[in-house]
Formats: sequence, structure tokens, C-alpha cells
Amino acid sequence: LRKRSLTRRDNSPRESREPIQFASAEEHSAALKFFNAAYRAEQSGSGQAEHLAGEVRGWDPELAETLELYGQEEAWHRELLTDFFRDLGGSVQPMGRVTRLFFKRYAAAERMESIVLTNLMFETIGATTYKLTLRRTKEERVRRMLNTLASDEAFHVPLNVYFLKRTLSRCDRRQIWRLRVLHELLFVALVLLPVASRPKSRAFDGLGTLELARAYARALGELFVDEREIPLAAPRWLLWLLDVSVKNVHPRRA
Ligand SMILES: [Fe+2]
Ligand SMILES: [Fe+2]
Repeated sequence: LRKRSLTRRDNSPRESREPIQFASAEEHSAALKFFNAAYRAEQSGSGQAEHLAGEVRGWDPELAETLELYGQEEAWHRELLTDFFRDLGGSVQPMGRVTRLFFKRYAAAERMESIVLTNLMFETIGATTYKLTLRRTKEERVRRMLNTLASDEAFHVPLNVYFLKRTLSRCDRRQIWRLRVLHELLFVALVLLPVASRPKSRAFDGLGTLELARAYARALGELFVDEREIPLAAPRWLLWLLDVSVKNVHPRRA
């Protein structure tokens, strides 16, 4: 993370550019909604990482530094996106009622293991959405933005699995039981998220409700398959319902 931080600072002044041309007003509006959702996720991620760094500094300064550097990457993403809105010909919009309520609740979360797990699951669906959207996008500047986000988030997922393991080592049985309940609830809520997000951004990313729900279920389901230290597993009934099979990411360890 220290090495990465050197390449993740760009203070060069931005030249003014023509806004990106979209095929239709509908696609343009959907793109703005897509990147607004991304912006809010980055904002929340950097805030929570900073909060956690402060929390653990007293008992694990090394972990605190890691969290801090990770939070800085998310803050850098937020800056990149703020700048990217000029290319998109739009700006950061105030959050809708449901989104605001959601992030407010998340920001108020106090238990460290709950914050780390929630963040990890957000990172997972973020990485999945960026990756799938990248496959369908042809526009050069949009591709560059998505590429940066997709590759960084793909790195943040295993990083957060590590944070979770480190956090779980300090949890008692009761906390782990509570975390299992949270995991199950979040799993279902996040897999259902495309039902709410598709009407807003489908005209930009071209992803269908079931397609994205399945991709989320697979990515979330594979998170802990190889992690014996993390006693969390995907709700089987949901995988069965969506006809999704989850495989070991590292079959040799199976
Ligand atoms: Fe990010
Ligand atoms: Fe991230």
C-alpha cells in the first residue's frame, strides 16, 4: 500500500476537455447516476477506513497504518470521480432519500467487525459492477476511469478479507453469531440491489437485473469459500433460487 500510494497522487492541473458524447440523453443521465453511486461508495469507504484506523491505532498501529493507506486510495478515487464529472458533463448530486438513510446508518455503525464486513461486501459488488460495465463500454475516457476503479477494487477485496480476519481474531462467540446474521441480511439485500439500481443506470451499463444479481451472488458467495478462519457462508437457498454455483477460488486448497 505504501508503494501504491506513490503512484496514486496526481496533482497535475487538468486541461479542459470536451464533455463525453453519449448516444442519447437517457444514456447520459444513466451514466451520471452510475458515477454518482460510485462517488458515494468511495466517500463512505474512505470515511469508514479513517474511522477504523483511529479505532485500532491504540492496539495495532500496523493495522492502523494499513487502514489509513487504504482509506487514502478511496479518497483518491473520490477525487478522480469528482474530476471525472467534468468529462461527463455533470456533477455530484445530493443523495436520494433511501441512499442517504442507508449511508447514514452505515456511518453510525460502531462495531468494528460489522463495519469491516459491510465494507468488504460493498467492495465486492463495486468491483463486480465496474468489471462487468468495463466489458461493455467502448468510450476511451470512461474505460480508463472504470479500469482504474475495477483494478483497485479487485485489490481492495482480498485486502478487506485480511482486515476481517484480523478483526475476527478479537471477537467472541456472541459477536461472531451477530456477524453471521448481519452477513446473511446484507447478502440478500445486496443481491436484490439491482432491482433498485437497474431503472437508474441500465441505459449506461447495459446490465440486466438477473444478470447483475447472479454476478453479485457469485462474487459474494466465493468470498469466504477458501477462508477457514472466517465462519461465514452464502445463504444456500438464495444461490439455489438464482441458479448460481459457487466454486473454490483456489481449488488446490480445497
Ligand atoms: Fe474505491
Ligand atoms: Fe475500494
